[in-house]
Amino acid sequence: MASKRKISNITLIGFMGTGKSSVGRRVAKILGFRFIDTDQEIEVRVGKPIARIFSDHGEEYFRKLEADVVQHLSKLENTVIATGGGLGANLKNLESLKTHSLVICLWASPKTIWERVRHNQNRPLLQVADPIEKIRSLLAERKPVYKKADVMINSELRTLPQVVQQVVYHFKLVTNSDFSKQNKIGSQN
Ligand code: S3P
Repeated sequence: MASKRKISNITLIGFMGTGKSSVGRRVAKILGFRFIDTDQEIEVRVGKPIARIFSDHGEEYFRKLEADVVQHLSKLENTVIATGGGLGANLKNLESLKTHSLVICLWASPKTIWERVRHNQNRPLLQVADPIEKIRSLLAERKPVYKKADVMINSELRTLPQVVQQVVYHFKLVTNSDFSKQNKIGSQN
């Protein structure tokens, strides 16, 4: 697997509210890379906001759209990709992303995630009676796949500029070294 990798992009995975888009935009600016947000790509393709896609077509349909976008991403270079929280929790998606990207997972605790997303109504999976419990259970379910990222960065213990700096640091480390000889790049909690 590692020998087939050609790292020309950075992909940020992780749960809702961990800062993927804010971090991704800043990293792209620093590196002079293009920035892509997979949720935005899907919204443009379908012509509807994510919440409408869920309510009109259901989650399964949305997951298929995510898998389609993942295929398209493999053609990109010099791009920072911020993904929707469920995209990088799918092993097949993750394996595809790893062929062209350094995959970095941003991490935060359920309590911090809730504080960050609570005032936002646009996340259909959290429109339930007990959203904190939903965050806990989804996070526990997704954790085994998230942990397969090349790098884990805890975004609740760091400021936004510190997370951005960590992402840039890890990317430079990998692209300046002989990546093909490495199986695992390292982890940072
Ligand atoms: C989802 C996360 C959302 C969006 C959709 C589903 C998830 O993206 O893709 O609401 O399954 O965790 P963000 O992580 O950008 O909020």
